[in-house]
Amino acid sequence: MTMERTGSVEEVRRHVAAWRKEGSAVGFVPTMGALHAGHLALVEVVKARGARAVVSIFVNPKQFGPHEDFDRYPRDVEGDAAKLAGAGADLLFAPAVDEVYPPGVAVVPVHVSGVSEGMEGARRPGHFDGVATVVKRLFDIVKPDFAVFGQKDGQQVAVVRKMVEDLRLPVEIVVRETIREPDGLALSSRNQYLSPEERRMAPALFRALLAGHLVYQLGEKKAEKILKMVRMALETEPAIRLDALDLVDAVTMQPVKKVDRPVMLAGAIVVGKTRLIDNVRFGG
Ligand code: PAJ
Repeated sequence: MTMERTGSVEEVRRHVAAWRKEGSAVGFVPTMGALHAGHLALVEVVKARGARAVVSIFVNPKQFGPHEDFDRYPRDVEGDAAKLAGAGADLLFAPAVDEVYPPGVAVVPVHVSGVSEGMEGARRPGHFDGVATVVKRLFDIVKPDFAVFGQKDGQQVAVVRKMVEDLRLPVEIVVRETIREPDGLALSSRNQYLSPEERRMAPALFRALLAGHLVYQLGEKKAEKILKMVRMALETEPAIRLDALDLVDAVTMQPVKKVDRPVMLAGAIVVGKTRLIDNVRFGG
């Protein structure tokens, strides 16, 4: 079966309506392109459920800060389209900015309170408002039965889940575990920025998070001790700067002092000029 491809909201609606009519469920995978096996794994989740897979590629200007990499974010829609067709996607929606945010039409901003403000939200002001706003808009366009997100962006998952709950959106949120390179590095479109030497060092973040998980498994419940272990483990790569480290409740994203419930241990490092994030979950 061939994949449809469009930049038009009208056409997305037409395809989705036709699939509904034939009784198919519709699963949606929002992305910013520069696709890798992590993104394709989300498409696989849709296909495994026997649903039609709609994938969007839209580098959303609203979720980038003024000094972030919006302009140089990797873009390769032709390459992406080939990968998606190979993965069995049914429709690629790759709109222009004006199609998503038509000039003269007010954008109703979405702010998901409680889970957006801390962690990456504090370090990237406005980021999660930009994410929630575009995901809501894309949901309105596609009207999927379910949407698939990656655990790689753990706080984003919490923001989207809370948005669906707060706004009572009729969309099921499905989460796929993080897809990694054989050495543990989480796949990311930003890995393309790494030099060979930086690429060699980058898996240190995941290793350090695993060291934190390990001391927990060995009986340590205090957040302070677990976080200290992660920091120590990262010192083995002195060229890496730890930019952020949080141990939070897996649902509310609020810091915990003790692991007495499901938690997410999340970190961000800077390698050269590239900022990478990762997380592991445990507890409860
Ligand atoms: P993007 O970074 O392109 O990621 C699209 C989806 O792929 C997200 O759900 C992300 O968590 C998932 N993903 C990325 N790397 C992954 C990996 N290694 N394993 C599993 N899943 C992975 O996240 C965004 O785009 C945007 O914020 C978006 C939701 C599209 C809104 O603009």
